[in-house]
Amino acid sequence: MNKPKILVARAIFPATIARLEEHFEVESNQADASWSKLQFAEKLRDKAGAFTTGGERIDAELLAAAPLLKICANMAVGYNNFDVDAMTARGVLATNAPDVLTETTADFGFALLMATARRVTESEHYLRAGKWDRWSFDMFAGTDVHGSTLGILGMGRIGQGIARRGAHGFGMNVIYHNRSRLAPDLEAACKARYVGKEDLLRTADHVVLVLPYSPASHHTIGAREIALMKPTANLINIARGGIVDDAALAAALRERKIAGAGLDVYEGEPKLNPALLTVPNVVLTPHIASSTIATRLAMANLAADNLIGFLVNGKPLTPLNPEVLTR
Ligand code: GLV
Repeated sequence: MNKPKILVARAIFPATIARLEEHFEVESNQADASWSKLQFAEKLRDKAGAFTTGGERIDAELLAAAPLLKICANMAVGYNNFDVDAMTARGVLATNAPDVLTETTADFGFALLMATARRVTESEHYLRAGKWDRWSFDMFAGTDVHGSTLGILGMGRIGQGIARRGAHGFGMNVIYHNRSRLAPDLEAACKARYVGKEDLLRTADHVVLVLPYSPASHHTIGAREIALMKPTANLINIARGGIVDDAALAAALRERKIAGAGLDVYEGEPKLNPALLTVPNVVLTPHIASSTIATRLAMANLAADNLIGFLVNGKPLTPLNPEVLTR
């Protein structure tokens, strides 16, 4: 019997390609070429499945060019690259890669928080530039993390992981805001207190953003919200570009309206607002929060398992639009 045809949109672990090849006729992109939308659509024309990585837009226009497509498996927990309604309307299953990246991403949220609060990269740049000639009493004085107030916007699994680290590891006072309040046992495990969004912005010493991107969360943090924050506060974005108004943030950092920011995601990435490169009090990383070898491999394998589970066995692991399965 012919194996189903799938497309792997970006370079991934060779071991994952080898696993997929046991079940599918695979067209891969191990050279990691940048395909135009038209090239991507042409490659999908005869495919039953697509392995995507979070950067490939799947919308009605693309689906119209891919009549045999049955599933798109994202190697990411976020899936704002999918128009899920259009996929559901066309009967195309969408899957993401949750859970396997939760702890690694929470670790990174903390890494960015620590680096920002303690000015790790700013002081390293100073040292590398050969500017360090003597000790000084307030050299790169930052803000304390231990015992401070940690405000988390978006309290899904990753937000809870950050809360646990803050409360149990650093003795932080954890407050959070979310669309819905956590169950009491989860709040107790995170030692987190539910507050309104404005209350959180006014009170937190460190604000961490971990909410999913959607048109409703576009510019959740703009000039008005930043103005509510303490001048000593730090803002950390490990969620998605577009949740923060990057131009407003760069201006606020330049004017020292807040102390600092740590950013892993950007509006329009991989391009970023050039103003962010000109302010010293921001730590910038290239969307790597889930990037450890073990976790990226687990994410790739989960995406592969969704393709195999659905196209071979009829049972995907983490469907986003399961209503497609019962049609
Ligand atoms: C990374 O940003 C992801 O959504 O997994």
